[in-house]
Amino acid sequence: MDILQILNWRYATKKFNPEKKLDEKKLAVLLESVNLSATSYGLQPFRLLVIENPALREQLRAVSGDQSQITDASHLLVFAVNKGLTSADVDAYINRIAEVRGVTLDSLEAYRTKIKTSMAARSPEELFQWAARQAYIALGFLLVACAAEEVDACPIEGIRKPEYDALLGLEQKGYSTMVAAAIGYRADDDKYQFKLKVRKESSQILDFYR
Ligand SMILES: Cc1cc2nc3c(=O)[nH]c(=O)nc-3n(C[C@H](O)[C@H](O)[C@H](O)COP(=O)(O)O)c2cc1C
Repeated sequence: MDILQILNWRYATKKFNPEKKLDEKKLAVLLESVNLSATSYGLQPFRLLVIENPALREQLRAVSGDQSQITDASHLLVFAVNKGLTSADVDAYINRIAEVRGVTLDSLEAYRTKIKTSMAARSPEELFQWAARQAYIALGFLLVACAAEEVDACPIEGIRKPEYDALLGLEQKGYSTMVAAAIGYRADDDKYQFKLKVRKESSQILDFYR
């Protein structure tokens, strides 16, 4: 399939087949797609929670408008964003670059300063919103990777975030729930798979400057 066929095949799956689970290899590929997402400066200011526990998923469903995807998909993924990015996060990242690429810390000093300066210019709320955007980009990577792997997915924003934070113990970790995605395989009778995609005419979203 070419990329447009792949993107037309995917849809926000409303009804999953609860019997059909992702195998570990496929799951690992999809989780890695999130890790490979582009993020601003490469800071990756989020964690991805992989939720299999059925009892926990029942509790999460109750605070997600009773959406069946929460319990019935093979896996529930929750993107949680770092609420308090600090210069220590930048330092950890710079150390990681030095380690992975085998370069000196000295050679990364200018980059360290650049990131810290840009962060210092933002309020805590701006920093959080900036981090949140990185999580959404990663969600996009995940959705495309799922489609390419012929795995169904539903992005889910209809969740009560404070309750998620409490159930997932995020408060203590300094993270906050941002968005979720249910991944797995569609039920044969999910009627949404047969609906035509509704999108604007491309002329309504494209402006060319030539
Ligand atoms: C950030 C985001 C949040 C969404 N939240 C929900 C949700 O809570 N429940 C749901 O069933 N669909 C949710 N959707 C799916 C959208 O309704 C769907 O992507 C849109 O209607 C376009 O349809 P398609 O993805 O099937 O092409 C969400 C999509 C995005 C991108």
